[in-house]
Amino acid sequence: MKYINFNNAGSSKPYDVVNKEINSFLEIEKHYGGYYAALKYKKKLNSFYSNLSKLINCKINEISFLSSTTLAWNLFFNSLKIDKDNNILIFENEYGSNLIYYKKNRHNLKIVKINEDGKVCFDDLKNKINKHTKAVSLCHIASQCGNRIEVEKIFNFIKKLFPEVICILDACQSIGQIRVDVKKINCDVLVASGRKYLRGPRGTGFIYVKNKIRDKIQPLILDMKNSAIIRDKIRINKSNIFENFECSPSLQLGFSKAVEKVNKFGIEKIESNIYKKSKYFRKKFENCNQIKFFENVDTLTGINTLKIKGINSLKIYNYLLSKRILCSITTSSASLLYFKKLKVKDLIRISFHEYNSYNEINYLVKCLIDLIKKKAII
Ligand SMILES: Cc1ncc(COP(=O)(O)O)c(C=O)c1O
Repeated sequence: MKYINFNNAGSSKPYDVVNKEINSFLEIEKHYGGYYAALKYKKKLNSFYSNLSKLINCKINEISFLSSTTLAWNLFFNSLKIDKDNNILIFENEYGSNLIYYKKNRHNLKIVKINEDGKVCFDDLKNKINKHTKAVSLCHIASQCGNRIEVEKIFNFIKKLFPEVICILDACQSIGQIRVDVKKINCDVLVASGRKYLRGPRGTGFIYVKNKIRDKIQPLILDMKNSAIIRDKIRINKSNIFENFECSPSLQLGFSKAVEKVNKFGIEKIESNIYKKSKYFRKKFENCNQIKFFENVDTLTGINTLKIKGINSLKIYNYLLSKRILCSITTSSASLLYFKKLKVKDLIRISFHEYNSYNEINYLVKCLIDLIKKKAII
């Protein structure tokens, strides 16, 4: 029996064509060596940018291929001039690694409240944003809580008040599972990973930087790919500004295939498919007061977090693993702010993807019910 992956928010199963593409390019590299192989595949490698620009509605030169969201996010913040009197606005669902960056750099941080219903408190946002706000970093769907944040409403609200504020979206969990259109949501920067809902390979990610804000950024790492010395002065390219010379073409090709698949299948279809699966799963426990879910059903996505009365998360995780079901335990490292507010240590996270079947979900439900019934003897 195969393992069932309900840890898509960690890393989903890549599409078959993704692995095929990677393997076949590695064979080409074996034949020609890395440089000539990349040259031969130049057109295909460039399709990465056209596929992604189609998905998020941007220009091809606004995208840089990178290895992760964390790298993309850090490269961006370390390339932005942030003065002492500036402040950075974040929200109570901010990702754990980003909080480490703020702590290290001692930025003046303003944390906007998220209400009990999982929605951003606009009164608090209005009170905290001001003319010294340099950037706003917003997590679209958090790692530790599947509520979908109203990014379009928030960024448009901010841009109306302070058009110069840079709006950054962490789309790590939203890209590939819901529609993310950078124009519609009015964002200046977007960071995301390939291995989650896009079903790309591990070690892939990207950053989108709107051409309009290009002049506000001095990329942290300059090399002969994104810059040149001309008449004794460094000139930085206008395209794909965060890319450096060395990268993995095979992973870029695999990632491109995944995005192509998503575009072909249709993101709206994926979105509604995943949403229905979360609704279906939660409905099975409607009358069970032993399980508590932590999302607002009105803003539900594929990520579901829960606790079972009297059974700790590690026991649940291990029990499901013994039944060949993969889920994950999310802890305060994913977001100190969120867990502090919730006053819980950890949660079980079940994250569905379109490729998960209803049979698999029924099996998960059966296992959880068995576990609840057996609780006394575990
Ligand atoms: C919301 C969110 N942001 C950022 C990250 C970091 O992504 P990566 O591990 O690809 O750097 C994650 C990872 O799970 C995440 O869930």
